Amino acid sequence: MQVKASVPGKIILSGEHAVVYGKPAIAAAVDKRLTVTLQSRNDGKKIIQTDADDTKLIDAAIKVVKNGLEMQKKGFDLNVKSEIPIGAGMGSSAAVAVAVAATLVVASTGQSKLDLEKINKLAYEVERIQHGTPSGIDNFTVTFGGFLWYRKELEFLKTFWKLQFKVTKDMQHFYLINTGKPVETTGEMVKMVKQKLETADLTLEVLHDIEGVTKKVLLGIRGEDEKLLLSSMSENERLLEKLGVVGEFAKNIVQEIEQSGGVAKISGAGGVKDRSGILLVYHKDKNTVAKIAKKHNLDWFPAKLGAEGVRIESIEA
Ligand code: PMV
Repeated sequence: MQVKASVPGKIILSGEHAVVYGKPAIAAAVDKRLTVTLQSRNDGKKIIQTDADDTKLIDAAIKVVKNGLEMQKKGFDLNVKSEIPIGAGMGSSAAVAVAVAATLVVASTGQSKLDLEKINKLAYEVERIQHGTPSGIDNFTVTFGGFLWYRKELEFLKTFWKLQFKVTKDMQHFYLINTGKPVETTGEMVKMVKQKLETADLTLEVLHDIEGVTKKVLLGIRGEDEKLLLSSMSENERLLEKLGVVGEFAKNIVQEIEQSGGVAKISGAGGVKDRSGILLVYHKDKNTVAKIAKKHNLDWFPAKLGAEGVRIESIEA
């Protein structure tokens, strides 16, 4: 049996880091996908091929999916192909976890209709193994797709609201620039912020301010209020800089984008030692974004926000 599943990447429009402390965040699935193909074998071997550097993560995902026991005995080939930049804050690890869980569950149960709640829970377990205290926003977004308002009240109470809107044509000016994979892991960045908050380097007020900005970003997109969206995205970047998660290299790119009439913010955990992962950019002029990215030798692409979540692409007997 062969099962193929694909999962989108994600960006966080506002609220990263604050979301770990019970504040809301808005995330959107993006149209870069990761595809896992699982082909059953009969000799008990498990052969993993991946173009993403994540075999430990795949092993963790395989272990977590108890449903996959049948498949574990039979053995399988598992192939991962990804368009999502790895380790740059676009949810690539959550996408791997979701896609591995989806293919294993479908291959084991023979049912093509995905139980999204279950896949999401499994992926969250994998994320916990991967980086300790995840908020859960990554796995939620890539599983369910679209736009998500997410808040983790307590470990057992994670609430999310699928936002029923689309980015209108007039506001389709989102781009992503990859400043490069941070040296630090998401777990390390989350720990760093925690230490700062504990040692009063920072006060909790910054989390409150991020919450206010997150609400404004939502109102900006929902109300098609471009001015509000731009001002709140740039306010969000300033607060992330205050949190100390944006490196100098990324700060410079943000400045260049701003000087050329756009706005940009890091999206995800960030990084300070060197690069800071993905930058979410809003700019009316595509060529300017291209020029700035090119000047610094960085990958960039237009981002369609609100992509479909995990889906089964094919099942062959
Ligand atoms: O894994 P990343 O880079 O997308 O970061 C996730 C967002 C954080 O708020 C920094 C961590 C979390 O678990 O929510």
